[in-house]
Amino acid sequence: MPTPGPAAAASAVDPEAILGRQAARESAARTYARSLPIVPVRAQGMTVEGADGRRYLDCLSGAGSLALGHNHPVALQAIRELLDSGAPLHVLDLATPVKDAFTTELFASLPEEFARDARIQFCGPAGTDAVEAALKLVRTATGRSGLLAFTGAYHGMTAGALAAGGDRAAGLGGASGRPVRLPFPYDYRCPFGLGGPEAARIAARWTESLLADPKGGVEPAAGMIVEPVQGEGGVLPAPDGWLREMRRISAAHGIPLIVDEVQTGVGRTGAFWAVQHSGVVPDVMVVSKAVGGSLPLAAVVYRGELDVWAPGAHAGTFRGNQLAMAAGAATLRFVREERLAERAAALGERMLAGLRALHCLLPAMGDVRGRGLMLGVEIVDPEADADPLGARPAAPGLAAAVRQEALRRGLIVELGGRHDSVLRLLPPLTMTDEQAETVLERLGEAVHAASAAHRGLPPARAGEYR
Ligand SMILES: Cc1ncc(COP(=O)(O)O)c(C=O)c1O
Repeated sequence: MPTPGPAAAASAVDPEAILGRQAARESAARTYARSLPIVPVRAQGMTVEGADGRRYLDCLSGAGSLALGHNHPVALQAIRELLDSGAPLHVLDLATPVKDAFTTELFASLPEEFARDARIQFCGPAGTDAVEAALKLVRTATGRSGLLAFTGAYHGMTAGALAAGGDRAAGLGGASGRPVRLPFPYDYRCPFGLGGPEAARIAARWTESLLADPKGGVEPAAGMIVEPVQGEGGVLPAPDGWLREMRRISAAHGIPLIVDEVQTGVGRTGAFWAVQHSGVVPDVMVVSKAVGGSLPLAAVVYRGELDVWAPGAHAGTFRGNQLAMAAGAATLRFVREERLAERAAALGERMLAGLRALHCLLPAMGDVRGRGLMLGVEIVDPEADADPLGARPAAPGLAAAVRQEALRRGLIVELGGRHDSVLRLLPPLTMTDEQAETVLERLGEAVHAASAAHRGLPPARAGEYR
């Protein structure tokens, strides 16, 4: 008798039982599994099918790692070809044709001035591993230990990366030296009560004067680490002019600028690398997520003159994931050849316009923002008083209700940002126009339904708010 295929196996699974066993066996620290109680068994492009037969449009995309969506034929073909070729799958950090091709494709995608003299260190498979490597690299190269990082930052969950992040709730932040926290522009909840270019100018001015002040209490910094668009911080694009100021100020102090492109890279924001919007040339770039073509891969790329660490200064068993390099090279090539960054820019603009239209109709949508296909909607309490800038208080409960209403309507979205009240959209760059329309429709209905329930009104009918 033939072995049952995956489809037969999927139809035999009991999703409720699996979810029950997961809740009983897995760590209390599990995250997405709590808010998205589904059991995916098949996925293609933007569509995920659960064991219960329900289909979802996935706007989480493996937390932004699936630039081409699930199981894209280009990535699958690269994986299959490697599997069938007899090439070793585990090679530590040895040279292979697969790694050579990946590095060539990655370097070809980098800003030219940066790529010309770049070195790469492959790291353990997660973004946080590459952040650790970047911090170690600049500390070794400069002989300093201080670090400059920003409000709202997220760089991962290992000790050094956690310390660089701004989230106190994530814990252990002080374990490896507390960085100096600098202001990252956040128009909607501007710490200076201004918003806009004036606030960005003041944020830069504060950074400049703090670093220049001999009594400012700032330890000499080994590096300044910044995300060109903060994702976990609440989808906050860094204004280009402000980022250029950070480049100017860090250069003036001889401080290497580390740009964390873990989430923003590979076309996501409408440029191949988000830093290219501003024309800033970093000293160090951290890459992961989409560079592995849906498989785990992370690296730190940096200017040659920083390459002064000793052999073995940064090691790790799993730094040579050949399948990820094959899938990653194919993905980078496809994004370049199909001009998917441009597609993300155009579709992102249209999505943003659609979200702005919903924002006018749905007062729970306090702010909409983003760059390319990295979009966010800040959910607020529509009945609370607004502050002088017009911002209402964050509404985490309502945001969670919107996420649940979206899931009921077949849309996967996650929350992030301050108080977990920003809906984050990270659809694949291959999303079709029709899928984009459906996302907007389902999202609008979800916000409307959750808002009605919040006010104690009966459930809304589809499309009723329009
Ligand atoms: C900007 C940024 N840096 C680093 C990380 C950490 O990556 P990982 O979760 O793969 O460790 C993330 C994860 O979301 C991220 O968004």
